[in-house]
Amino acid sequence: MLPGYFQAGVSYHKQRILFVVTVCLLAVSLFCFSSKYVTSVLSKVPTFKVFQLSDTRQFMIKTYNRYNFVAFKKKPGWHFVDFPCHYTCKKHAAQVTVRFSNKASDIIGADGVFFSTGPFTLEEWEALHYYRSPGQVWIFATQEPAAIVADFLPPKAYRYSTYNWSFTFHSTSDIHGAYGWYTPYPSPPPIKEKNWYKSKPKLAAWVSSRHCEGLGWNRTLFVLDLARHITVDTYGKCGNITLRKNRAIAQKVFNEYKFHLSLENSCCSEYLSEKLWNAFENWESVPIVIGGTKEEYKRLAPPHSYIHADDFNSMEELADYIRMVSENETLYNEYFNWRNKGYVQQQSFEYRFPVFDTGVCKIVDKMEERKSTNATGVDVFDPYGPNWFGSCYRCGEHAWIQNYNIWWRRLTFAKDWEDNRTLYWLDG
Ligand SMILES: *[C@@H]1O[C@H](CO)[C@@H](O)[C@H](O)[C@H]1NC(C)=O
Ligand SMILES: *[C@@H]1O[C@H](CO)[C@@H](O)[C@H](O)[C@H]1NC(C)=O
Ligand SMILES: *[C@@H]1O[C@H](CO)[C@@H](O)[C@H](O)[C@H]1NC(C)=O
Ligand SMILES: *[C@@H]1O[C@H](CO)[C@@H](O)[C@H](O)[C@H]1NC(C)=O
Ligand SMILES: *[C@@H]1O[C@H](CO)[C@@H](O)[C@H](O)[C@H]1NC(C)=O
Ligand SMILES: *[C@@H]1O[C@H](CO)[C@@H](O)[C@H](O)[C@H]1NC(C)=O
Repeated sequence: MLPGYFQAGVSYHKQRILFVVTVCLLAVSLFCFSSKYVTSVLSKVPTFKVFQLSDTRQFMIKTYNRYNFVAFKKKPGWHFVDFPCHYTCKKHAAQVTVRFSNKASDIIGADGVFFSTGPFTLEEWEALHYYRSPGQVWIFATQEPAAIVADFLPPKAYRYSTYNWSFTFHSTSDIHGAYGWYTPYPSPPPIKEKNWYKSKPKLAAWVSSRHCEGLGWNRTLFVLDLARHITVDTYGKCGNITLRKNRAIAQKVFNEYKFHLSLENSCCSEYLSEKLWNAFENWESVPIVIGGTKEEYKRLAPPHSYIHADDFNSMEELADYIRMVSENETLYNEYFNWRNKGYVQQQSFEYRFPVFDTGVCKIVDKMEERKSTNATGVDVFDPYGPNWFGSCYRCGEHAWIQNYNIWWRRLTFAKDWEDNRTLYWLDG
């Protein structure tokens, strides 16, 4: 039916009132419609949107892409931020909120879910999959090696249908947060001669305060065995010398050592942690390494900068070599030649951990890129694959190193370890 004022026989006064009421109703419905429209525009269009009113008048509204993430699940002191966090990501004009939750139904409607900690029960996995919204990206995000974060590996049945992207130190991860890297100089500066040998009177140091009993392998036992052949000063809770937590003091103390034992807590693909990069950058020492494979150190660390234990046939051979290098100035200084050809950089914690702005914005960028290229493929991160959990079988190719393994040894005891879900959840 038409509004009253179009009808014949209605008085002028009534017509005016009806006209005003109708205009108001129209204005309200227009506003409702347009704000709905604006909201939907807000979630899709970056930066500026131009609204054309007539031939001459235009107005612009700065619009943002809005993103909601949920970090699942809560572990006190683990994420190092106060939730909820709000970030602005400049590149795609996005405003982001990250909440965290232990309740599976809270993931409904989120653009992405971070998984950085566990453990999960089978029921929780089922609930999470039940509440997963279409298009929601699940991100496996950690800076720890696979062996430590086994508690958010999904049950094998969900192996390929859980995570879309990974955010780890591994170079194959979708969002890469390396601990450090080596960059050759494009054109090397003039060579600086320095006798590193002369400035380092002490032999070898090891510092560690976590997982002393061993996680993937028993590195404490390894150090004790090495110390039967050469002098090793052991610092931190796993050793004998207490060190005050002060960067300047540590720097001064460790700079006096020719060698630094950079022994990772477990041997998983490309897990080259701050223990290695500190030895280069802060202690200016020659690291003796066990962690990744020989190929990985060769690819990721500076050339001729470290001693890999897996290059030797026994502990005696390794110790003999260390002793020989420690007694030969020329040989020792050769381990510092790379410093004339390139440099190392470390990446601080905030850049490697997903819930800070840098990491969150990298994820947003990736989502925006997916949108702008109209990508339709299904991204799958396989947490059991050869670049992650599947790489943590053992330390080294040599049996004498493998003898220090704890975890791998236990795995081989379970014949059906491939399917034994509880086994993956043993180590916290
Ligand atoms: C690792 O070696 C240390 C030193 O011998 C020992 O005290 C500890 O029990 C060992 N850990 C395991 C899990 O065998
Ligand atoms: C600490 O010192 C004691 C006594 O000298 C020695 O038996 C032990 O092996 C040392 N431990 C480490 C981790 O170096
Ligand atoms: C020290 O090492 C250099 C380089 O490998 C070698 O040429 C030299 O003979 C060594 N010196 C001694 C005393 O072994
Ligand atoms: C993505 O799809 C939109 C809408 O169909 C289209 O306008 C745009 O050109 C597409 N972009 C690419 C990179 O294919
Ligand atoms: C994420 O993984 C789920 C489950 O495999 C899949 O349905 C979805 O399409 C994936 N999303 C993306 C963006 O790849
Ligand atoms: C799976 O692992 C658990 C914990 O180690 C063990 O008790 C159980 O016997 C294993 N199951 C099989 C079938 O080996």
